[in-house]
Amino acid sequence: MTTPNMHYADLKDSYLFFNIAQKVKAYSGAHPGTRLLRLGIGDVTLPLCGAVIKALHEAVDDQARADSFHGYMPETGAPFLREVITEHYRSRGVDLSYDDVFVSSGASDELGDILDLFDRSSSALVIEPAYPAYVDANVIAGREIVHLASGPDNGFLPRPPKDIKADIIYICSPNNPTGAVFGRDQLQEWIDFANSSGSVILFDAAYEAFIEDEDLPRSIFELPGARTCAIEICSLSKTAGFTGTRLGYTVIPKELERKGMRLNDMWIRNRTTKTNGVSYILQKGGAAVFTPEGQRQIRENIEYYKENARILMRALDKAGIWYCGGKNAPYIWLRCPDGMGSWDLFDHLLNTIQVIGTPGAGFGACGEGFFRFSTFGSREDTLLAAKRLEELLCR
Ligand code: MLT
Repeated sequence: MTTPNMHYADLKDSYLFFNIAQKVKAYSGAHPGTRLLRLGIGDVTLPLCGAVIKALHEAVDDQARADSFHGYMPETGAPFLREVITEHYRSRGVDLSYDDVFVSSGASDELGDILDLFDRSSSALVIEPAYPAYVDANVIAGREIVHLASGPDNGFLPRPPKDIKADIIYICSPNNPTGAVFGRDQLQEWIDFANSSGSVILFDAAYEAFIEDEDLPRSIFELPGARTCAIEICSLSKTAGFTGTRLGYTVIPKELERKGMRLNDMWIRNRTTKTNGVSYILQKGGAAVFTPEGQRQIRENIEYYKENARILMRALDKAGIWYCGGKNAPYIWLRCPDGMGSWDLFDHLLNTIQVIGTPGAGFGACGEGFFRFSTFGSREDTLLAAKRLEELLCR
């Protein structure tokens, strides 16, 4: 009899956001017609910007003519997109070569797929609270997981532990869910730790575009030593509204080697085997993000979400609720009022004011007692949610 991957039995019953969606569906079924204010999953609500839409339309037209038609695309990404991404890094002082950059179908796909580079016997360190897919993807692979808890005492930015050995280290900065961002010195400590221990950092930079403070690093490659220990995974989902369109990119510097194997070469080998590349149309749309017009337009959208964050933060301030995030990240991480459990608060907000958030416990055990709001909702929903939260919590 075929033996399935028995590690699936080690996973929690269902994935966090699927679980929440089921609860919300049940509530909607029982309360038809009730308006729900969705501040749960970090899914964007603004449409793709004009520059991207124009490029997508043009690319569709290219596919309609024999002289501009594209079949299979290069598995590692179209040169026109890899070039503009490289240039984008260069404009921010990070010098990469264009073949350090790989085009992907989004950060969440890539965060799972990239694990192919590592032996199953390797261990993965996850700084928690964390995006749940880091843990789940490694459980599926049967890896040992080292859970490193963080909390308000260290600003959710723990230092590398002296006594722990891990082969793969996940760092998400700006962090999902806490919104915390590693400063240069703090991130440098992790880079030095990884270089001295031979670990590889998977740096999830999906939210870098939300950083406001100039002195905070947006790419790990702004710091010395990162090229020999880090892979950076980026996304156009939150930066440019591609959650449903799917596009991202990954940087694997050619200097990154372990046990005589160059990870950039390995990833080329992997991609050429496992994908036929991302569609021409989407890559054309993605390239438009990096034009001056595209950059101006995506900034406007990011500003819209930042205003949502300010609206929610004002409501929490009035209610005297402790929170962090919201400034350099699109998530607000708050302490549940009155010592409530995070799933209890989820149910309470859903049942009383129809606001959907994400329970902190879904991001790891140390997330219990906390709760996350996404700022990617519509302005209308955000304003109404803020008003209802104020009324509920200021009582
Ligand atoms: C989140 O809400 O944490 C993210 O939107 C999930 C994702 O990016 O897959």
